[in-house]
Amino acid sequence: MGLKLLVTGAGGLLGSAVAKIASDRHTVFSGFRRRAPKFGNPVLMDLLNLERVHRVVLTLKPDAIIHAAALTDVDKCEAEKRVATKVNYEATKTISAAAARAGAYLLYVSTDAIFDGKRGMYRETDRPNPINHYGLTKLMGEEAVGAARGKSCIARSSVIYGSKPAALKDNFAVWLIEKLTAGQSANIVTDQFVSPSLNSNVAEMTLELTERSLTGIYHTSGCSRVSRYDFAEALAATFGLDASLIRAVRMNDMKWTARRPRDSSLDVRKAMSSLNHVPLLLGDSLVRLKTEYREAGRKIGRRQARGRATGS
Ligand SMILES: NC(=O)c1ccc[n+]([C@@H]2O[C@H](COP(=O)([O-])OP(=O)(O)OC[C@H]3O[C@@H](n4cnc5c(N)ncnc54)[C@H](OP(=O)(O)O)[C@@H]3O)[C@@H](O)[C@H]2O)c1
Repeated sequence: MGLKLLVTGAGGLLGSAVAKIASDRHTVFSGFRRRAPKFGNPVLMDLLNLERVHRVVLTLKPDAIIHAAALTDVDKCEAEKRVATKVNYEATKTISAAAARAGAYLLYVSTDAIFDGKRGMYRETDRPNPINHYGLTKLMGEEAVGAARGKSCIARSSVIYGSKPAALKDNFAVWLIEKLTAGQSANIVTDQFVSPSLNSNVAEMTLELTERSLTGIYHTSGCSRVSRYDFAEALAATFGLDASLIRAVRMNDMKWTARRPRDSSLDVRKAMSSLNHVPLLLGDSLVRLKTEYREAGRKIGRRQARGRATGS
């Protein structure tokens, strides 16, 4: 039998993919703040309104909650620390407590940014040590989930990308494809290493964890560790775009507000051995991205003005 499932951030890059897949087999309630999501039954749920967040969970009494909403703009989190703390930590604490009270399973989507990036290929058992406010608030969210003592799971991802803009902004893949298509150059760092994650692949793993009520921590990113530069080159090659427009720069050249981990790649062996939907290799993800790009009716070559991509 299908679940009564509440997805927060259901209009976001990951939440929208989760809501899309889940609506085929579950009754989905799609939490949003600004624009009603395309899939599921829309539920207005501003995470800054903690009282309402609590009430929505206790009124809906879902079987499970996938909490994907967050303030994901790393530099904005650094500049607006109070708001970031409220959205990423306090709202997560409220959702965890309400989920435990309602007897709902909770899956909290977290991030590689909880690690300092000194070593890379982090396992679920490695000690977090965030170096920016985004990472700190997400780690505080993880701790709040644990403290609520409900049935819960933490699923960490890394640089999520997909075939469509979401939450009114481009993601790294869409941004780069449109820039190269328009013949514009792009400055990409060679010394930052991540585990790029296709949103539909992460959504499948997230949903499987939820359907099987698995608990604990899982790294649910893509399974290839690459530099941002190599990721960009692979995207250009897959989409037949001019890779000479990609300019190699160093992290020190970037005018970022927040510090970034140098290597926050994730070890996904636990997800590989325990899930049916497993983390994909970068090459396989990009082939799938290309198919999803076509299915979304997106033409390479059409440039649209939109907010910049965020790279949590
Ligand atoms: N993107 C990445 O590279 C990445 C990497 C690792 C982990 N993650 C984690 O994965 C999860 C999903 O990320 P994403 O990339 O899908 O994010 P996203 O595209 O930026 O979407 C974030 C979602 O959160 C919602 N949200 C933000 N502030 C809110 C508020 N005050 N009240 C209610 N909803 C609010 C947004 O809704 P509105 O649009 O209505 O404001 C949006 O639907 C997050 O928990 C993030 O920390 C992301």
